[in-house]
Amino acid sequence: MALSSAVAAGCGSGTSPEVEAGPDGTPDPVLVAGRGVFVDRCSSCHGADGGGTRNGPSLNRGRLLQAYPDLSEAAAVVSDGRDRMPGFGGLLTAGEIDAVLRYITEVL
Ligand code: HEC
Repeated sequence: MALSSAVAAGCGSGTSPEVEAGPDGTPDPVLVAGRGVFVDRCSSCHGADGGGTRNGPSLNRGRLLQAYPDLSEAAAVVSDGRDRMPGFGGLLTAGEIDAVLRYITEVL
């Protein structure tokens, strides 16, 4: 079954990039936490690399900062939801939302 590995990896997904080690030799723990949130809560619609799927737009390669130079507005979308985007205000703390937005803008 040649298809099975592609199916197991999901539709055009793959693995979200790891956070690289900083100058002190360890990855920024906030970015690592943000990656965890992204993998668990966001990648299903926005893609493992943030490149988007048919269920959600792309957020990677600077697109998020382009759309939201002020990330607190992006945080409001994540918290409150918009259209087909569910709100995460009841599920994630403000710190977790800030962490996932940093992961998206600094790593993806
Ligand atoms: C069920 C699918 C789904 C999930 C899960 C999801 N999103 Fe979304 N997201 C969407 C859709 C659809 C839109 C476009 C909403 C619109 O058209 O207004 C969107 C829009 C956004 C936007 C605004 C993009 C823009 O250009 O205006 C941000 C930021 C965002 N999502 C971040 C996240 C984050 C962070 C998570 C995880 C905590 C997440 N999303 C989880 C579907 C999803």
